[in-house]
Amino acid sequence: MNGTTEVQGGMPWWAPQRKRMMMSMGMVLVLAAGAFALVAASSTASKEAEIERGKYLVTVAVCNDCHTPLKMGANGPEPDMSRMLSGHPSDLKVEPPPQTDGFWMFAGSRTATAWAGPWGVSFTKNLTPDTLTGIGIWTEEMFMNAIRNGRHWGVSRPIMPPMPWQYYRNFTDEDLKAIYAYLQSIPPVFNEVPEYIPPTEVAAIK
Ligand code: HEC
Repeated sequence: MNGTTEVQGGMPWWAPQRKRMMMSMGMVLVLAAGAFALVAASSTASKEAEIERGKYLVTVAVCNDCHTPLKMGANGPEPDMSRMLSGHPSDLKVEPPPQTDGFWMFAGSRTATAWAGPWGVSFTKNLTPDTLTGIGIWTEEMFMNAIRNGRHWGVSRPIMPPMPWQYYRNFTDEDLKAIYAYLQSIPPVFNEVPEYIPPTEVAAIK
């Protein structure tokens, strides 16, 4: 009887050990959670810093100059920031380009998003993260390859002028990743940019 009482009412032989183990497991969990929170907080902070750097690079490398359509303002043409970086507006009817085979070599539309020259007619791409018409579904790798190789989607047809990828390809990996991170963070704009028109098809623009 005594023996049974001892076992049921008292601590079994393994109890203190288990308690110690549970306590230390608890400590480990608390510490791990704390460490995780710290890592999460610092990775959020470093993501924010990367996006800020991307914004700075996009600004000084004048991506907006071609990829944000101009609108007429009180003091002349100004970038329409409600359509920031969304490329050539799909609602504009494309007109036949002026002569560009004499003294003048190329021409830009009044939005500065459509460009005619010896390469045909190119339209600046939608760089917003819209998944249907922008670069929302692009991977970081696709983006880096597009700029580095000068190829549509990174692998397809050559990217036409005046997109200065020959200069931008010199961005470091870190810079291109920051630019990509920033572009993925801006407001998505639904805008389906027309397809590039090769020189042989320019005459067909009516
Ligand atoms: C001088 C004008 C100009 C500037 C400045 C410019 N772009 Fe472009 N960009 C273009 C044009 C035009 C196209 C479309 C070319 C084509 O369709 O072949 C284009 C296309 C692109 C593409 C699409 C590539 C693809 O796969 O189709 C990306 C990405 C891009 N630009 C990113 C940028 C970034 C990032 C910057 C700034 C660092 C920038 N561009 C600055 C004119 C410009």
